[in-house]
Amino acid sequence: MAQTNRRLILRARPKGLLAPGDLQLVESPVPTIADGQALAKVKYLSIDPTMRVWMSVDSYLPVVPLGEVMRAAGLAEVVESRHKKFKKGKKVLGLTGLQEYCVIDAADKRGSFRKVPPIPFLSDTAFLGVLGVTGATAYFGMMDIAKPQKGETLVVSAAAGATGSIAGQIGKIHGCRVVGIAGGAEKCKWITEELGFDAAIDYKQPDWKEKLAAATPKGVDIDYENVGGEIMHEVVQRMNLHGRIVLCGLISGYTKEDPALESFATILRKRLRVQGFIVLDYLDRFMEAATQLGKWKMFGKLKDRETIVEGIEKAPEAINMLFTGENIGKLIVKV
Ligand SMILES: NC(=O)c1ccc[n+]([C@@H]2O[C@H](COP(=O)([O-])OP(=O)(O)OC[C@H]3O[C@@H](n4cnc5c(N)ncnc54)[C@H](OP(=O)(O)O)[C@@H]3O)[C@@H](O)[C@H]2O)c1
Repeated sequence: MAQTNRRLILRARPKGLLAPGDLQLVESPVPTIADGQALAKVKYLSIDPTMRVWMSVDSYLPVVPLGEVMRAAGLAEVVESRHKKFKKGKKVLGLTGLQEYCVIDAADKRGSFRKVPPIPFLSDTAFLGVLGVTGATAYFGMMDIAKPQKGETLVVSAAAGATGSIAGQIGKIHGCRVVGIAGGAEKCKWITEELGFDAAIDYKQPDWKEKLAAATPKGVDIDYENVGGEIMHEVVQRMNLHGRIVLCGLISGYTKEDPALESFATILRKRLRVQGFIVLDYLDRFMEAATQLGKWKMFGKLKDRETIVEGIEKAPEAINMLFTGENIGKLIVKV
C-alpha cells in the first residue's frame, strides 16, 4: 500500500474562481486505523458547485475551516478494516474529502458513508452522477416539487449539467415540452439530439431571450432553476399562473455578488409556489431514486454522460470547470 496520502487543504477563501494556492496539495502519511474504523482508498471524487459555497460561507453545512482537507463526496474502496459494517473490498460512498485515503469511523454518528449497491451492469461513477446525489436531486426536485403533468412546459437551466440533464429527461418521461438553457452549441446539440429535449437555448448568443420566448409559446409551467440571476429572471417572467419553480441552485451567484431578487415580486404576484430544497433531506429515500433512475437507464429512457478529469492534483481546476462550463454531464475526478 502507498505510504503517502495526497490531500488538498483549503488555505484561502477564494474570490471569484479558485486561484492557485487556495487549495494546496500536501503529502501526509496514510492514516493508521483503530478499532471501529476502516481505511478506504478514494477512487472517484464528485466535483460539485456547492463546494465553492462550502469554501466561503456557512450554508446548509458549515464552511470548511482553513487548514482542513477540502470537503467533497467520493467513491472509495475499503482497503483495511476494523469496522463491523465496512469490510475490506467493499465500495462506499460518502464525504471522503479531496484526498487519496479517508477513514470511516463507527463513532461518526452522522453516518456519512453508505455501501455502493451491488448492481453489476453499472459503472462506479454512475453512483456519483445519475444514480447518486445529482440524479437524486433531479428526481426529487421533479417528482416532489415540480410534479410534472403531460403537456406542460418545463424549462431547465444548466441543462447540460449533471442535475439539469436528468431533470429535463424526467420531464420528457412525464410528457412535458422540455426547453433547456445551456452555454454553447455542443451542449445544446446534446440535449436536443441525444436527450430528446424539445428545444435548447444557448444563453451565450445575443438573441437568447427572444429564442426562449419563441420556444415557450404557451408560457412556462415549471422552472427547474439551477442558475439564478438574469436567466432565472427571464424564465420567471414567462411563468404561467400556478406554475412551480424548483429552486435547486443559483450557480451564477456562487462566484460573485448578484442581487437579482426582483424576480420574487413576480413570484408573489402570480401566486407561484417556490420551494428551495437540499437533497440531504431525502437521504432515506435515495434507494427509491436509484431504483427508478436505474430502471429508466436500463430501458434506454434516460441517458447520462460524464466528464472525467484525471489526477487529484487537477481537482482545483476541475472545480473551476463547473463555473466556466467546461463539463458536460457529471464532472468527476479520477484519483
Ligand atoms: N438543492 C440541492 O440539494 C442541490 C444538489 C445538487 C446540485 N444543486 C445545484 O444544482 C445546480 C447544478 O449542479 P450540478 O452539480 O448538476 O453542476 P453542473 O450543472 O454539472 O455544472 C454546472 C454548470 O452550470 C453552468 N453555469 C455555471 N455558471 C453559470 C452562469 N453564470 N450562468 C449560467 N450557467 C452557468 C455551466 O454550464 P453552461 O455551460 O451551460 O453555462 C456548468 O457546466 C447548481 O446550482 C447546484 O448548486 C443543488
